[in-house]
Amino acid sequence: MKLARLIYSSSLKPHVDHTEIKKIHEVAEEQNRKLRVTGMLIFGNENFLQAIEGDRDVINSLYDKIFHDPRHHQLIIRSYQEINDRKFNRFAMKLILLTQANAQFVLQFSTSELFNPSEMTSESALKMMLALRD
Ligand SMILES: Cc1cc2nc3c(=O)[nH]c(=O)nc-3n(C[C@H](O)[C@H](O)[C@H](O)COP(=O)(O)O)c2cc1C
Repeated sequence: MKLARLIYSSSLKPHVDHTEIKKIHEVAEEQNRKLRVTGMLIFGNENFLQAIEGDRDVINSLYDKIFHDPRHHQLIIRSYQEINDRKFNRFAMKLILLTQANAQFVLQFSTSELFNPSEMTSESALKMMLALRD
């Protein structure tokens, strides 16, 4: 049993209602709790950035399931690593909804105020998540 963390970015499919985000989060929290998966899901500017951490085999099969979820597309794995300890152990899945009010915060980690995780370095992506965790 080895611990692993996977971080990926994706985009909400056009025409998928924003009310789906809450549903995704509810199911994720419930399932992750059972699977001992922890992590964070950020949504803003129609884009997702998610970290999932837990047992390596569990993370691999969860990512496969998430990958095939029709509500989002353009998934890009930003980082995948075996880890010694978790960074999001306090949350089955912490949801962060970015708004205009977070523009300066987003700018700290990006080239513009628009949240576009596929354009961020993987290090910036993790740093942003850690800032939102604490
Ligand atoms: C952006 C995004 C993030 C998701 N994150 C998780 C997650 O962390 N855990 C989880 O179980 N499902 C997550 N899901 C939902 C899964 O894709 C899937 O719908 C859900 O696990 C239900 O699976 P089931 O068909 O086995 O019941 C996510 C979906 C999306 C679109």
